[in-house]
Amino acid sequence: MKIFQENLYEQLIEDLSLYLKLEGSNVSIEEFLISLQSTQRDLWHSLQPSSVSVDYSEFKTQLCYLFRYLIIYWENIYSGLSKIDEHRKDNLFSKTAKNLRIGLFFCGPAPEIIGIINYMEERNLLVNNQSIEIDMYDQYINQWRLVRNNFIINSPRLKRLSALGFNFNSRKIDFSSPITLANPSKYSICCFQNCINEFWDRNSRIIASNLRKVASEIDIGGYIILTDRHYLQAKGKEIIAILLEQNFNLLYFDVDEIDCSRKSRIPGILSQNLFIGSDGLKATKFNRRFLCILEKDA
Ligand SMILES: C[S@@+](CC[C@H](N)C(=O)[O-])C[C@H]1O[C@@H](n2cnc3c(N)ncnc32)[C@H](O)[C@@H]1O
Repeated sequence: MKIFQENLYEQLIEDLSLYLKLEGSNVSIEEFLISLQSTQRDLWHSLQPSSVSVDYSEFKTQLCYLFRYLIIYWENIYSGLSKIDEHRKDNLFSKTAKNLRIGLFFCGPAPEIIGIINYMEERNLLVNNQSIEIDMYDQYINQWRLVRNNFIINSPRLKRLSALGFNFNSRKIDFSSPITLANPSKYSICCFQNCINEFWDRNSRIIASNLRKVASEIDIGGYIILTDRHYLQAKGKEIIAILLEQNFNLLYFDVDEIDCSRKSRIPGILSQNLFIGSDGLKATKFNRRFLCILEKDA
């Protein structure tokens, strides 16, 4: 049985039903979805290109984020890893017994985990005897814990992943102040996904210095995956310019539009109670994003 379902809407509904049961709630899934409509609308408005930041501290906002974006945001890092595999056949995951350490920056609920697992599962890499340490960083790492632990790495999945050699660590960092990383060893891969609007300020010396710090904690031959919405690529290029000065080279850069709705067809329960089609209540279909991979030379 796959660890994550192919249809991520169905997975969310199943996890929501489990969550409501655990909470001892009498509310039906339909009622709960209807109660998310106004938050979903607000989230949509605050995530338009002209807006800068969103307050993710509320559980309902976080859940709405997952309903709107999970079906597309698992794909970014998945495609990043696939591109690394295409360009470098000595793939970090498969051909080495070396343990891997992956840093997920600005991970929030961490849809990146689905991308990593799907990538490995498709290539039969989950049976490796490699241990994989995943460090999750976010300013609101603790606030996101409830959705992360119930809708991404819920306890049945965590059990399976732990048995397969995965270990998850979480750490609060605010990228606008000097950061310290949890680094008993260096990283093989660090990922910055869907966070440029939230953190990047080309005039901030602290942010540039934090970026250099992450770059210095990556092994030679390791990678940074930087990926975000297509209209943020100019800011992405400012970040790339800093990394190119830190012994990284640009292995891949492209802008793409991926139709994610084919794998995750919208179930009736969602189209009738949450994504009912009016303003701000339309399901997302396409991931219009740029994807960039930098490789550390020396
Ligand atoms: C749009 S979410 C992206 C989450 C995830 N990477 C994804 O692809 O879905 C941006 C994240 O950046 C975090 N964030 C915003 N400002 C931050 C800061 N200054 N330092 C660290 N994290 C921050 C937020 O808490 C949020 O989880």
